[in-house]
Amino acid sequence: MHTTPSARGASLSHEPDHPLIRTAGQGKGTRMSGTDLACSTGLTENSLYRYDDWLLRAAAIRDGDHVLDIGCGTGGTTRAAAWLAGSGAAVGVDLSEQTLAEATRRAEETGAVTATFVPADAQVHAFETETFDVLLSRTGCTDFTDPIAAFTNLARALRPGGRVALLVWQAPSRNPWYAELTTGATPSLDVPGAFAFADPARVAHILTSAGFHTPECESLQELIQVGPGVDYRSAAWLVTTRKPA
Ligand SMILES: C[S@@+](CC[C@H](N)C(=O)[O-])C[C@H]1O[C@@H](n2cnc3c(N)ncnc32)[C@H](O)[C@@H]1O
Repeated sequence: MHTTPSARGASLSHEPDHPLIRTAGQGKGTRMSGTDLACSTGLTENSLYRYDDWLLRAAAIRDGDHVLDIGCGTGGTTRAAAWLAGSGAAVGVDLSEQTLAEATRRAEETGAVTATFVPADAQVHAFETETFDVLLSRTGCTDFTDPIAAFTNLARALRPGGRVALLVWQAPSRNPWYAELTTGATPSLDVPGAFAFADPARVAHILTSAGFHTPECESLQELIQVGPGVDYRSAAWLVTTRKPA
């Protein structure tokens, strides 16, 4: 259920321990940012589930596929990809070992035995060449410091003709939840951070420079759920492309 702005404010102001609204260096001694903490605890996984059908349908995962989930967090999309891949498998890669411990726990708990996790920097990790049929990411690629180099590295890991499906945030003006739920200044569109892929022209430049076909960016709007009955409107791009065959 979508709540009114005043109801949202009231709800959040009574939840001082809500992971998304803790600031870096505050609250229970954590030094993680609110968004990092949300990713590592699974709050992000749970919040964004309404986008999964779009993302997974765009990824068009088939039986036997090998899927790489970039910046997988606690692995919700990795587990879903593993189920869809049937006799294939899905690998989630993330910088945070703490986050991947939770991803592994969730995969074991749900019997997703073909979902595995690699702690690594996806920008530079030496993935095996031409191993994956699909690259996907749900908001896990926007922190790349050199996105062209990162996607060039990821393109090497993808088979010729392989598919790419990315969910990335549109501009902050279309995602007011960011300013409400985080304490940092809203980042600009051309630096690493939540909105680094908000400009479709920049996304096209990054992906074509990395060797992919010109991507399509489909506009999606869904509610994101940050707590029981606390939903925010959000807007994302569903970015799809392929590596040339
Ligand atoms: C916003 S969270 C999204 C997590 C997950 N995809 C989800 O939807 O729940 C972004 C994740 O990307 C990871 N990440 C950021 N930069 C990365 C990099 N260079 N290599 C691997 N993971 C990275 C972070 O550690 C974090 O878990």
